[in-house]
Amino acid sequence: MTKDLSRRQFLHRTAGAAGALAASPAIFLEPEHIPLPLQSTPPSDRLRFGIIGIGMQGSGLLRDAIQLPGVECVAACDLYDGRHTLAQEIVGKKIPTTRRYKDLLDNKEIDCLIAAVPDHWHKQVVVDAVSAGKDIYCEKPMSHSPADGVAMVAAAKKTGRVVQIGSQRVSSVICAKAKELLANGIVGTLTLVEGSLGRNDPTGAWVYPPPPDLSLGNFDWDTWQGDATKRAWDPDMSPKYFARWRCWKEYGTGLAGDLLVHLVSGMNFMLGWNEPPKRAMALGDILRFKDGRNMPDVHATLFDYGRAPIYLRLNLGCDTPEIYRFQGSKGILEVTEYAITYFPQSGEDESPSYYTSGYPQAMREAYLKKWHEEHDPKPGKEPIREGFSYRGESWDAEKPHLWRFFQGARNHQQVTEDTVFGHNAALACHMANQSYFRGAAVTWDAASNQIKS
Ligand SMILES: NC(=O)c1ccc[n+]([C@@H]2O[C@H](COP(=O)([O-])OP(=O)(O)OC[C@H]3O[C@@H](n4cnc5c(N)ncnc54)[C@H](O)[C@@H]3O)[C@@H](O)[C@H]2O)c1
Repeated sequence: MTKDLSRRQFLHRTAGAAGALAASPAIFLEPEHIPLPLQSTPPSDRLRFGIIGIGMQGSGLLRDAIQLPGVECVAACDLYDGRHTLAQEIVGKKIPTTRRYKDLLDNKEIDCLIAAVPDHWHKQVVVDAVSAGKDIYCEKPMSHSPADGVAMVAAAKKTGRVVQIGSQRVSSVICAKAKELLANGIVGTLTLVEGSLGRNDPTGAWVYPPPPDLSLGNFDWDTWQGDATKRAWDPDMSPKYFARWRCWKEYGTGLAGDLLVHLVSGMNFMLGWNEPPKRAMALGDILRFKDGRNMPDVHATLFDYGRAPIYLRLNLGCDTPEIYRFQGSKGILEVTEYAITYFPQSGEDESPSYYTSGYPQAMREAYLKKWHEEHDPKPGKEPIREGFSYRGESWDAEKPHLWRFFQGARNHQQVTEDTVFGHNAALACHMANQSYFRGAAVTWDAASNQIKS
């Protein structure tokens, strides 16, 4: 949901680029088939889910989930009563609503849960849910701290419940196709991966308008703060914390937890990696939105996974499309929200070496003569290299990811983005944050489960 605006802008902005690609063959990927009609499952076979957190993201997940076959929403929980109304509006019928998520955990009618609460609540909700025997889809970033992530991995392992973390591009056809191409060596020796995303508007920088009626009468402010803070209700600041929590490290995980986690999760999935980085080195600052936030609005991180360098950049002060470039000895695989484009490279000298401009004339001419004899193609036989592009459904579409979770819950099968995958991706984000705050490179120490500088 947060990404809708940038997605539209991105489409608009890349229309020119798409035109330039029109010369290469475009193949539409077949999206994963999700059976229709939606109401074809008898009530006895339906998977009943409850939702915790029906804000910006939870409301979108709820709209998507209820369109999937064989699932139905039977209860909703939020600390703000306005969102009880919203949940009823989306589901289109009266379902039980509550401010206490433990009511959903105790409810035997509920098979599984979706949680879209702010980051500082992820660990507690997931640990409580799996301990109560419920499978759960929890939004990204999986954790608010490395320690939270460790506790979540342990709880999922102990209980064996299905946990899916909500980095939806892991279930996208775009990333699946890129993964296949990369596994088949499309870029040759992988030498560098870069990824970036930029926005340049207050909404993109989380300056959201709080609901105008938010008050202690319709909202449980103390519970919302969890263990993060114990602030008294402040009619000016509390609604801002409620709506703009991403700006403050007490509740959110900054650019790293909001956007970098998507870049990292997608990258790990496409490369078939599932581990934390060995080292992270970040630079950042608050340059554009000096509104009292304590998280950077520009954040660039170099990651060392013991393989090719990874360079991921996020900027809330300049609008740029979201893109990955997997660079290697055989060219570049560019991956964006809707498209994959391959730019081939031979990796060979395609003209005589310019170093020979430093040869004396006779030596240079002899070199050039030999080079041309050995390399020049016959007229009409000049090499032509094939680049190509694929276009597919947005990697931000949430239905495929929700569908995989519901299938996992129905069949008691683990899912791709389990807690281990989610933890490893979140650790990269925590390392990016710690490197920024400490002003130093940081490493992950698996023995002590700590980030060290
Ligand atoms: N996957 C994506 O593309 C994507 C996009 C946006 C947000 N998200 C993630 O979704 C999560 C929610 O983000 P959002 O923008 O919807 O936030 P939001 O503030 O709009 O909504 C969160 C809701 O959770 C409720 N809540 C908080 N603590 C609660 C508790 N203990 N019990 C019950 N309800 C509680 C709040 O009252 C609020 O209504 C975040 O983790 C965020 O990172 C993911």
